Amino acid sequence: MAVGIFDSGVGGLTVLDAVQKRLPDVPFVYFGDHAHAPYGVRTDDDIYNLTTKAVERLWDAGCDLVILACNTASAAALRRMQESWIPTDKRVLGVFVPLIEALTERQWGDNSPPREVGVKHVALFATPATVRSRAFQRELAFRAIGVDVEAQACGGVVDAIEDGDLILAEALVRSHVDALTRKMPSPDAAILGCTHYPLMAEAFQDALGADVKVFSQANLVAESLADYLTRRPEMIGAGTEPLFLTTGDPKRVSRNATQFLRKEITFTAAFP
Ligand code: SIN
Repeated sequence: MAVGIFDSGVGGLTVLDAVQKRLPDVPFVYFGDHAHAPYGVRTDDDIYNLTTKAVERLWDAGCDLVILACNTASAAALRRMQESWIPTDKRVLGVFVPLIEALTERQWGDNSPPREVGVKHVALFATPATVRSRAFQRELAFRAIGVDVEAQACGGVVDAIEDGDLILAEALVRSHVDALTRKMPSPDAAILGCTHYPLMAEAFQDALGADVKVFSQANLVAESLADYLTRRPEMIGAGTEPLFLTTGDPKRVSRNATQFLRKEITFTAAFP
């Protein structure tokens, strides 16, 4: 049985790369919904419908465990999916909790009451839909008190990355960091709350300054998945080469993905 990794586009490859390094023997199927990216500017219903369709495709590919690497889908669709849609023999996990556990210095699954933590002023960079959902603040409130969160909806960055226009993406990152620091002049930590932003991690760190600790998800999700699979070894099958599925143009998507990860990646059509 393979583990499915879902993202709206190429950004989730940062998560896949980290989990493959951490779990080299676990087989993965990656689904990028490039035809409908970016999700971050869509309505919640739209995000829910697209995400459930993608997850069904990953189930068809033999993935009983699916990670929603896409923060926007985790924020806007996961709760609704978990409430009424996911059958009991399948699991769908999001990417917020590992990040918030790291930020609040908690062990995996520590459900003790919220407490004071080291960080006080947190800058959240995410898509408009993720910011609107307040999912990050909600999860944080279960674990921490006294943390001030300022969120910046980073319009345009995902499009620029999907188009392979890194110069535009960098310029947009600088302007979003400027906008955030006008509202919160000295954040002590920053969250890159979108799978695409780790591809711009240097630009975020440069614009924020070296004193701001920047949290990004890929390694944290990989660690959390490793913990999860240690507890549920029955969810892992025998190792095979990863499979890359896209709803977009496989040639174009493969070219972009290869450029971002600096290794050859070949996508095939998700719904031929
Ligand atoms: C998007 O599709 O807008 C970005 C993906 C994410 O939120 O991680």
